[in-house]
Amino acid sequence: MKVRALKQRMMSIFCSKYGISFLILVGFIISVSILLHDMDLPGFPAVKTATPGGKSPPDLQSNFCSFQPYSEEESLEKAVEERHLLNSVTWPETPLIPVNFTLKQTSDPAHSTFTILPGGGEWRVGDHLKIIIQVKDFEGHPKTSGGDFIVARLHNPKLGAGVAGQVVDLLNGSYSAVFPLLWNGSAEVEVTLVHSSEAVTVLRRLNREQPDRIYFQSVFRSGSVSETTTCNICLRPNKQPICNYTDLHTGEPWFCFKPKKLSCDARISHFSGIFKENLRKNEKELFKSHVNMKVSIPALGSPSVLVLPKKEGYNEKNNSVVSPGPTGYYYQNVWRALGGTTVHQFNSSSAITECLKGKVIHLYGDSTIRQWFDHLRDALPDLKEFNLHSLKQPGPFMALDYPNNIMVTFRCHGPPIRILNVQTSQLHYIANELDNVVGGSNTVIVIGIWAHFGNFPIDIYIRRLQTIRRAVMHLLDRAPGTLVIIRTANLKDLTLLGSFSNSDWYSLQQDKVLRAVFKGINVHLVDAWEMTLAHHLPHNLHPQPPIIKNMINVVLSYICPKRGG
Ligand SMILES: *[C@@H]1O[C@H](CO)[C@@H](O)[C@H](O)[C@H]1NC(C)=O
Ligand SMILES: *[C@@H]1O[C@H](CO)[C@@H](O)[C@H](O)[C@H]1NC(C)=O
Ligand SMILES: *[C@@H]1O[C@H](CO)[C@@H](O)[C@H](O)[C@H]1NC(C)=O
Ligand SMILES: *[C@@H]1O[C@H](CO)[C@@H](O)[C@H](O)[C@H]1NC(C)=O
Ligand SMILES: *[C@@H]1O[C@H](CO)[C@@H](O)[C@H](O)[C@H]1NC(C)=O
Ligand SMILES: *[C@@H]1O[C@H](CO)[C@@H](O)[C@H](O)[C@H]1NC(C)=O
Repeated sequence: MKVRALKQRMMSIFCSKYGISFLILVGFIISVSILLHDMDLPGFPAVKTATPGGKSPPDLQSNFCSFQPYSEEESLEKAVEERHLLNSVTWPETPLIPVNFTLKQTSDPAHSTFTILPGGGEWRVGDHLKIIIQVKDFEGHPKTSGGDFIVARLHNPKLGAGVAGQVVDLLNGSYSAVFPLLWNGSAEVEVTLVHSSEAVTVLRRLNREQPDRIYFQSVFRSGSVSETTTCNICLRPNKQPICNYTDLHTGEPWFCFKPKKLSCDARISHFSGIFKENLRKNEKELFKSHVNMKVSIPALGSPSVLVLPKKEGYNEKNNSVVSPGPTGYYYQNVWRALGGTTVHQFNSSSAITECLKGKVIHLYGDSTIRQWFDHLRDALPDLKEFNLHSLKQPGPFMALDYPNNIMVTFRCHGPPIRILNVQTSQLHYIANELDNVVGGSNTVIVIGIWAHFGNFPIDIYIRRLQTIRRAVMHLLDRAPGTLVIIRTANLKDLTLLGSFSNSDWYSLQQDKVLRAVFKGINVHLVDAWEMTLAHHLPHNLHPQPPIIKNMINVVLSYICPKRGG
């Protein structure tokens, strides 16, 4: 009942307000083709694809793809939760950017500085290091408002050590960051401006006005007749008939324009691409690598401190009490948890096999979870991939180790999966998959779903996580021994186009929402955000093998908390 009411409201959003002007949009979609040189959608190799795109649609509507808040009669509890979740991702106001703006008054990492605040004369393991960051514009004037997206880490390359800092926006152009001191020796602060507050203004607007800048299409076929139409969670209403593929079980919405000759049942495949972004030239200037996107902010004074050995009675786990402190750190390139499960090193294939003996591991999600399937398959000589004749990106995949009775499977999540090609028969929602799992103490569920939601308003992602959570809770109720592990979002390398498909700024919102949605549920998190932020390797949508190895060690430590190798 609730789900239906929700969907009716959603469709009334699609259908009621907007009319004929969108015919123009469809015209432009069909008419123009451009070559993209820089596509890095999750799951996509960098490919050159001819895609529709082109000049700005004349009349973009705000908020055309947004759920209505739950009404109180529908569910007070859900409404309260959604408000809470939306609050968890509030971001300070960011500057309006007039049509004729220039970079001059926008945040410039080269002019900005950070300063290490003096401690009590000496630094010791167990202390905290605090810095103040002052953001300035290209003319060297201090900014007086907040909203810049800044990340910070403390590291020592020689020791293979690194930890993420907690950055706080003071809302007046200054930011503070705090780091726990966790190792003896030198520690260097690194501060990075990921996006200026002005760029955040643009990113915000894009998700409100152009969630369909990543486009989806489906091929319909019957006999020799074949047609292709546009699909999405929200279609811009244009009076064409639509096919409704809303999932009856989860209520997840999905629609395609109806093909002219074929029926809605003739849909056979799904694929996606990316439009050229509809930005003005000066707006694009806000997304320049080496200028104002993911660029280091220099130190005023020394960026490093020398940390002396810890004081008597110090216990490193106490650091996790500093809230919100980091969840772990690297030392000798090995990830150590601060509080929670101790991370063991599973260095040999026999140690991994010993841990996974008799287990079924189901991996669900995007390509960042597919990496884990690949890693396990490659790490275990007896774990052989069974040829299911699947496509390389979506899977499904299955690997079996008969002697040790281990099964590992991977399946991609459902729409809006961004993918070069997948049969519609293979588009499964994670929640529905979980409903088909028997579960039990030999079953491990691993979920990683984030990267394909970056172009949508955050409420779309919230609702998806809520349906997954409901399925997880049912699974844990009927099979309490089941272990559920969830991978959070990670930082990635940012290009202009990459920012528009899933900027780290979007990923941060998703990361916060995911933690909030699963808070208090018996699931374990792999903190991919901090594991990529704290590491010395460059940010990458698909983190490099040394980081994956550490992530897998965290996973295995959840499965086998007592063992290691
Ligand atoms: C789509 O289908 C769902 C499920 O049957 C239904 O609740 C919803 O109202 C439909 N939406 C439209 C626009 O037809
Ligand atoms: C932008 O336009 C406004 C209004 O026309 C004008 O007042 C302002 O000086 C212009 N700014 C720049 C940087 O050209
Ligand atoms: C910014 O705000 C912080 C916290 O309120 C304050 O300590 C600091 O002095 C302010 N900085 C400036 C430049 O006003
Ligand atoms: C701390 O590091 C210094 C060198 O940086 C070393 O001489 C000393 O033994 C270390 N102390 C501990 C307790 O590890
Ligand atoms: C750290 O925690 C332990 C156990 O909770 C406590 O005994 C110890 O005093 C704490 N140490 C510090 C430095 O806070
Ligand atoms: C496992 O490998 C890591 C990194 O190579 C190393 O630091 C650690 O000592 C090894 N652990 C064991 C138990 O062999």
